[in-house]
Amino acid sequence: MTNPTQLSPPAIGALKLSLASELPPHGAADLLAVCVYADGADLGGAPAAARDALASSLPDVTPDFTGEEGETLDALVADAGGGARRLLLVGAGERDEDPDASFANLRRAAAAAVRHARGTRAARLAFVMPGSDDAPRAARAAAEGACHGFYENDFYQGREDEDDDERPRLAEFRLICAAAAAGDESERVRAEVERGRVVAESANWARTLADLPGASLPPREFARRAAEMASEFGLKIETLPAEEIRARGMGGLWGVGQGSDEPPALIVVRYEPEGANDSDELLAFVGKGITFDTGGISIKPAAHMEEMKSDMAGGAAALGALRALAQLKPPCHVVAIVPAAENMPSGKAIKPGDVVRTLAGYTIEVVDTDAEGRLVLVDGLAYARELGATRIVDLATLTGSVIVALGDHRAGLFGNDDEWAARVTRAARRAGEPVWRMPVSDDYRKQIESDIADFKNYGGRPDATAAALLLSKFAGPVPWVHLDIAATAWLEEPTAYSPAGATGTGVRTLVELALAADAGGAAADI
Ligand code: BES
Ligand code: MN
Ligand code: ZN
Repeated sequence: MTNPTQLSPPAIGALKLSLASELPPHGAADLLAVCVYADGADLGGAPAAARDALASSLPDVTPDFTGEEGETLDALVADAGGGARRLLLVGAGERDEDPDASFANLRRAAAAAVRHARGTRAARLAFVMPGSDDAPRAARAAAEGACHGFYENDFYQGREDEDDDERPRLAEFRLICAAAAAGDESERVRAEVERGRVVAESANWARTLADLPGASLPPREFARRAAEMASEFGLKIETLPAEEIRARGMGGLWGVGQGSDEPPALIVVRYEPEGANDSDELLAFVGKGITFDTGGISIKPAAHMEEMKSDMAGGAAALGALRALAQLKPPCHVVAIVPAAENMPSGKAIKPGDVVRTLAGYTIEVVDTDAEGRLVLVDGLAYARELGATRIVDLATLTGSVIVALGDHRAGLFGNDDEWAARVTRAARRAGEPVWRMPVSDDYRKQIESDIADFKNYGGRPDATAAALLLSKFAGPVPWVHLDIAATAWLEEPTAYSPAGATGTGVRTLVELALAADAGGAAADI
C-alpha cells in the first residue's frame, strides 16, 4: 500500500550543454545572453566575429542597465545583418581581481540567465563568454552555473493530468566561447565544461534529497536512493541496517534513531578505482544524515521546523561528491559515510540525561536531544577510522550557533591539522563555497565535560565550537576537518539564480579537494 504522504517526485531532466566558437545562426537560439558587469558588457570570451556582430546592437539596450548582480533585461534588438535577435543582458556585478570571485560571479550570471530563460519558456539559450585569463575554468564556472540554475524544487506543483502547456521549455544551453575553436585549449575547455556539468548535476542530485519532505525520505529511502545512484555510476555500497548498528555498538546513531518508527541506517558508499596512486590513502567524507530533526524530547519550536527536512544535507553532499567522482575518475580511494536517522519524540525516544556508549567506546551524556547531529557523527567518524580513513572531512547542518556567528556567506571550518584545514579551505574557495576557520581547542572543554560520562552533548555557548571539540575527540590523530553548513545548506528566499531551499553546498568543495589531492596534494593545489 502506498502511503499518500510519501510522495516520490518525478526525475528531473538535465539541461543539454554544448559548446560553440561562433554565434548561433538566426533561428538556432531563442535567446542570446551577454554578461554585463558594473563597468559594461563583456564579450571578451567570444570569437571576434561574434563580438563585432553584437557590438552594434548593445549600445541600444545597455544604457539603462547597471549590471547589478542578478539583474536581467530581455530585449529584441536589430542586428547588423538586418535581422533581429532576442538578447538577454545578465548582470554580473562588480569586477573582482580575485579569479575565484570572478568565477563565482560568472557562475551566478549563467544561473540567472538559465532561470530567466526558464521563466520565459525559451527552449534554446546561448551564453556569450566574458573575457578571462583562464578560459577553461571560466567555461567550467558557466557550465556549473547553468546546471545549477536549471534546478527546481517545485516537484509537487501542478496536477499531472493538467500539464497541457504546449509552450517550449528550456532544453539547451550553448556556450559561445572563442577558446572552443580547435587547438589544445579547446580540449581543456571541453573537459572543464564536462566537469562542471558532472559536478553541478551531482550537487542538484544532493539538493533534491535535501528538498524532499521528511515523509518522503526516511533513512531507508535515503539508503535506497543512494543504492540506485551507486549502481548507476558503478560505486560500491553497503548499508548497515538498524540491528547491525545496534550490534556493533553505535549507541549514538542508535540512540538518536530509537524514538522513530523509521529505523536508522548507516550508508557507506565507496569509490575504489583500480590503479589508485596510493592505495593506503583513504579519504573519508562523513555526512550528517538526519532525515528530519524535530529535536526529539527536547522538541524544537514550531517556527521554521519544516526546514529540518534538510538536516541530511551534509550526508547528501558526501554522496553527491562520490556520484561526481565516479564519473571524473581521480586515482584515489574515497568513501562516503552517512549515519542516517529520524530524530523524533515518542515513548521510545532517548531522554535528556540518558547516556549512550558510542562505537569508539566513549560514553556521552545526552543533555539535549536536539544536539543529535554530533551523536550520529561521532559514530560515523569512528566507523571511518575503522575503515582505515587517513584523512576525513565531515559535513553537517550541525548548529544554529554557526548561523549566528557567520550567517549565510561562509560555512564554519574546524580542524585538527593546519595543513589539511588549509587544503580544504583552498578547495572551498576555488569551488565558490567559501569557509571561515574557527577554533578547536581544549580551552572549551568544560562545555563537553560530563559528571557521569566521558562527554556530554551540550554545555552552552559557543555551541558550534563545543560541538566541533566533541567531534575532534573521535577523529583522534587522523587529519580531520569539520564543516558546519547549517547556514549555507539552505536558502531562505529565492534569488535570481536559485529557488529558496536546498543549495547542494559541499559537493563542489569535496570534488575539488579529491581532484586536487590527485594532482599531487598540498603543493599542487595552491
Ligand atoms: N539541525 C540543527 C541545527 C540547525 C539549526 C541546522 C538551524 C540548520 C538550521 C541541530 O541538530 C540542532 O538542533 N542544534 C541545536 C543544538 C542545541 C539545542 C544544543 C541548535 O543549534 O539550536
Ligand atoms: Mn537538532
Ligand atoms: Zn539536527
